[in-house]
Amino acid sequence: MSLPSPELPAPLAAAIEARLAGRAQAMLRERALLLSERYRARRPTIETIRDETDALAYAATRMPATFAAIVTALGRLREESPDFAPTRMLDVGCGLGAAAFAAATVWPSVAEIALLDRSALFLRLATGLMRDGGPPAAIEAIQADFAAPRAIDAAPFDLVVAGYAFTEIAETELPAVVERLWAQTSGALVIVEPGTPRDHARLMGVRSRLVALGAHIIAPCPHAAPCPLAAPDWCHFSVRLARRRAHKLLKGAKAPFEDERFAYLAVGRRNAPSPASARIIGPPRAGKAGVSLKLCADKAFCETFIPKRDKARYEKIRRKDWGDPLRAPAEEI
Ligand SMILES: C[S@@+](CC[C@H](N)C(=O)[O-])C[C@H]1O[C@@H](n2cnc3c(N)ncnc32)[C@H](O)[C@@H]1O
Repeated sequence: MSLPSPELPAPLAAAIEARLAGRAQAMLRERALLLSERYRARRPTIETIRDETDALAYAATRMPATFAAIVTALGRLREESPDFAPTRMLDVGCGLGAAAFAAATVWPSVAEIALLDRSALFLRLATGLMRDGGPPAAIEAIQADFAAPRAIDAAPFDLVVAGYAFTEIAETELPAVVERLWAQTSGALVIVEPGTPRDHARLMGVRSRLVALGAHIIAPCPHAAPCPLAAPDWCHFSVRLARRRAHKLLKGAKAPFEDERFAYLAVGRRNAPSPASARIIGPPRAGKAGVSLKLCADKAFCETFIPKRDKARYEKIRRKDWGDPLRAPAEEI
């Protein structure tokens, strides 16, 4: 199954544009700039987004990229578990609802969405965007601190997604947060984070905790052994998305696209029916003689070269991309 489009669904893009229309461009531009500076300085959202203008600047300049990363990670989960069809989902640290929109894009079966955030402003805007540009699902807004015990008082969800939210939690709090979110998951839990060495390292701690709790790793890792990548290397992926007009205007960006780097982990209560035997964890490097791939396979990280003269293998591999799973045994790749 192919990956979903990384672009915002048209009704959502229109709902965002309607909210940007009539706002002073200069003010939005100033806020978009401040937003990037604050996020670059690793300030949490609670200090970064202070009013509706900040939130709209986020909608125009950051949400398209977080949506693109989350929808790609969810597409990877669908690729591994094609029979999974969640109806109830929880968007943890929802912001403007990027994960909820992404889940509804990947699974039209999603009929009940719970949006959880500690920001009343984000919850109000996310609910409005869902109403005007979202799926025909029942929406519940939960204002809570997801790092606090008993933040969620609901039956477990088929799908729980935390998009760019763990990155704002203290490392010491992560094990307890993960345990609680796993207890809230009846199907799959997906965590998407910025594609940085710091966030990868933290995600690997989360992964160990989830494995200890009995979770099955569905993607991206083709095994549940400790991550074989050693610092300074780190596992991350990339998605290219078109920059919308508002984004270019607010960021003064010239390029018509941007690449969002992200790290992710999808785990489930059940194993994938036919798990991948390897995954491509870097951009394939094509040369005159063949293609080099960086793979995570068989509990180990390896580089492999497939020469053009090995026609059968080369043909199988040449259209594969960074992030794709491989299902053949490593020696046949
Ligand atoms: C970087 S934003 C990501 C928003 C959205 N998920 C996305 O991908 O665009 C992080 C979000 O997590 C929320 N958040 C951070 N820590 C939280 C906590 N302890 N409890 C509830 N929400 C939290 C913030 O309010 C913010 O909306």
